[in-house]
Amino acid sequence: MPDLKTVVAEIAAEMKERPDRGEVAKYIPELARVDPNAFGIAVIDAEGKVFTGGDADTPFSIQSVSKVFTLTLALGKVGDRLWRRVGKEPSGSPFNSIVQLEREQGVPRNPFINAGALAVTDVILSGHQPREALGEILRFMQFLADDVSISIDHGIAGSEQRWGFRNAALANYMRSFGNLENPVDFTLGVYFHHCAIAMSCIQLATAGRFLAHGGRNPTTGHSVVSLDRARRINALMLTCGHYDGSGEFAYRVGLPGKSGVGGGILAIVPDKASIAVWAPGLDAAGNSHLGRIALEILTRRMGWSIF
Ligand code: DON
Repeated sequence: MPDLKTVVAEIAAEMKERPDRGEVAKYIPELARVDPNAFGIAVIDAEGKVFTGGDADTPFSIQSVSKVFTLTLALGKVGDRLWRRVGKEPSGSPFNSIVQLEREQGVPRNPFINAGALAVTDVILSGHQPREALGEILRFMQFLADDVSISIDHGIAGSEQRWGFRNAALANYMRSFGNLENPVDFTLGVYFHHCAIAMSCIQLATAGRFLAHGGRNPTTGHSVVSLDRARRINALMLTCGHYDGSGEFAYRVGLPGKSGVGGGILAIVPDKASIAVWAPGLDAAGNSHLGRIALEILTRRMGWSIF
């Protein structure tokens, strides 16, 4: 078996040097300012050993990776009733697409496209003030990552709120079908802020450990979800976690994974490891270009593809 420490160090060194870095997200000014040369990776194995390379300690905007955790919270609140409001199928469309919503009566294809994540956020918000719902999400992240220093980048959240016309359109459209229950501005506000949570690769890989180990963090012993639920969240990450790049990610990497436009990817190796990578440059589908390549090399060298 190859030595994980060496493999991670070699990947980080190679990724720092590569000229093909993709394009940093430019749809809000704050994200466009991120250094495209950054690269970080953290791998946490089943014993809790942490292997890092590059900028593994630098916080970045987790963006859509947060949707894994809001999905976990919403399932905890309403269980399978969630699936009345959002589907479980890959969309084959960009993350911010609106076209399917009209044909499918305001029910988004899956919880990871923006429309689906807005419905999930709306479930978490129900019965609460936006501030309370956001506090619940942030505390959940701090609990999972075992780190109370995790915070929200309010500059990014504010910028997204000013420029989030597409998300506002999606939310209003769903509301017109009765698939948002709270005031649209409340749901959007909580959504923008949970996307703006800043975490390092080490924190993110730690937060994902329950998904690699049957719903439970094997180091702290904390049970987060049941084995069944962990399996199902992983299934959705595999089939929908990279939007219209999900097939390509499964083909090349072979792991459940969730990307964000900040350039982060959380990937899960069942029973073996939780991995977070960060490389801000994106491919055409809005997924981290070098993040995906780094994971492809890692899974090939470690024999970690689930297929
Ligand atoms: O709502 C948005 O557009 C962003 N806050 C999140 C999108 C995202 O991260 C898509 N991921 N690749």
